[in-house]
Amino acid sequence: MNIVLIGFMGVGKTTIGRKLARRLGYYFLDMDHQIEQEQGCSIAEIFDYAGESCFRNLETQLLQRLISVHNTVLSTGGGIITTEGNIQLMKKIGKLVYLKAPVEVILARLENDTKRPLLRTENAEEKIRTLLEKRSPLYAQADYVFESDQTPIPMIITQIILAITAVDTVSEK
Ligand code: S3P
Repeated sequence: MNIVLIGFMGVGKTTIGRKLARRLGYYFLDMDHQIEQEQGCSIAEIFDYAGESCFRNLETQLLQRLISVHNTVLSTGGGIITTEGNIQLMKKIGKLVYLKAPVEVILARLENDTKRPLLRTENAEEKIRTLLEKRSPLYAQADYVFESDQTPIPMIITQIILAITAVDTVSEK
């Protein structure tokens, strides 16, 4: 079984994903990190020199290669759901878990961020609001939704494990 974490920038996909994998004894793979390793440059450099569409192609190509992974927690980039077909691909890979946080929480977490090319703008709050509004119906297609705001991370992880393993036990009978 695999778990695929989706959600906006700053909701904690990487932090939660790594810890969730440790708790389950699963492998952990962060897609942004994997793309950076494979391309030998940062996400910001890919956006700057090749454009966002090139980055989106790299995301989809990597997803297609991940179809055969097992016992893995996958942390995805916040915009992965914007490419047509990616949601279906991710659902083939594993259980799709949406980590959700309000704009204020996201903004506070990303205030001093320099790594996200989409937030290099005068009005980051407005940008976050607009993107989140557009993307919310796509994130909502996940199999599970968990709030990632004030809830302590170990508790979020326990909630994810309980929800997913409960369904898995039922479906095995
Ligand atoms: C993006 C989110 C980033 C990264 C890229 C684009 C987005 O990942 O993939 O900067 O479109 O929301 P995180 O969600 O891990 O920050």
